[in-house]
Amino acid sequence: MKTKVISLYPDFDIDKLEFVAAAILHGKLVAFPTETVYGLGANALLPQAINSVFKVKKRPQDNPLIVHLSQIEQLDQVAKNIPDIAYKILAAFAPGPLTIILEKNEVIPNVVSRGLATVAIRFPSNKIAKTLIELAGVPIVAPSANISGKPSPTKAWHVYQDLNGKIPYILDGGTCEYGLESSIVDLSTKQAEILRPGLISAKDIYQKTGISVLEYQAKSHHSLSPKAPGQKYRHYSPAGTVMVLKEHPDLDQRMVNLQKGILDFIKRSETTIYEKYKLNQAIKIGLFVSLDVKRKFQENNLSLILQEKANEIFTKQSPEKKEKSLHIDFQLVSYENREGALEAARDLYNQFREFDSTKTDLIVCSAEPQLESGIAYMNRLGKAATFEV
Ligand code: TXA
Ligand code: MG
Repeated sequence: MKTKVISLYPDFDIDKLEFVAAAILHGKLVAFPTETVYGLGANALLPQAINSVFKVKKRPQDNPLIVHLSQIEQLDQVAKNIPDIAYKILAAFAPGPLTIILEKNEVIPNVVSRGLATVAIRFPSNKIAKTLIELAGVPIVAPSANISGKPSPTKAWHVYQDLNGKIPYILDGGTCEYGLESSIVDLSTKQAEILRPGLISAKDIYQKTGISVLEYQAKSHHSLSPKAPGQKYRHYSPAGTVMVLKEHPDLDQRMVNLQKGILDFIKRSETTIYEKYKLNQAIKIGLFVSLDVKRKFQENNLSLILQEKANEIFTKQSPEKKEKSLHIDFQLVSYENREGALEAARDLYNQFREFDSTKTDLIVCSAEPQLESGIAYMNRLGKAATFEV
């Protein structure tokens, strides 16, 4: 199959969307941008189209899909016994990066909810997404448009990497505004609860609506049957090792920890490093850190210092390693953190893909637990990371 990328960025003509909307209506799969991540869209009412979504994404069979709508008035077409709090929460946050779980209406096929009695519903605010759903005139399922196990796509290019040749259309709407998947709040039980953290937190919901929602329970994603089935999968970890650089009030101490973490990694990865050394390949270390950390790293000349210290450790391990020195390639990517974790969140999945494409051995990410926006960021980072310093 030939995949056509349709550019709708920075602006778009509605004509360009009409035939794509018709394609979705008739069962084709179309990737489109939303304010969170790119979605793989299909007509929610056509079981065959839903089956294709699972096949194309290689999605685990027990992982239900989110139904996307354009108008709150359509809610009772997909859900039933809708509690008042659902309307209150939607009045405050829809359209936007929030998914709610309600009792499923029979109209929605079981293949969408994978046999659950509930259905996940979201009203995206992205203009392309909204217009597409409106024009198609049917509810649209849209899981993130990646192969399962890869990071969610935040640029059309990411979708292309994963799904080229597998779907007919990718709509290019530029980089996603938020960059992490929507918050999921379960409204189908007595106590509303966040099942997946996102931009909108329990605190935000309380502040805007007075409704108390249980904040995301970090432990629940380890259990075998979490309430959002998708949370039990390990999700994406880059091929390289991910290390989290913890918050510290003292930046100098943080830099000490950073050095320790990198050198620990060198010590622990003796065999892989030696393989690269024999092939004259550099060890690649990527840093995805806040601007202050990057500046300090450069000011303190840490790439040179670490290079020397790493060589000391390396040559101590065995004398034949003294012939030539070990090379470390540092790649520094930074973000400002004026808005808590927001800038980091926007670029995290993109950087995971970038670091993988350059076969980075160690990826260091600074923790950004500040403010509400840090909850989702730390959740996604935590799923990818193997250690922290
Ligand atoms: O931001 C988003 O939500 C993106 C964009 C494209 O809208 N979509 C997305 O879909 O992240 P996906 O399929 O990658 O993640 C859907 C999550 C999964 O963790 C799934 O288990 C959960 O929603 N889910 C779906 N239906 C559910 C239900 N009835 N009850 C509990 N969890 C549900
Ligand atoms: Mg996903």
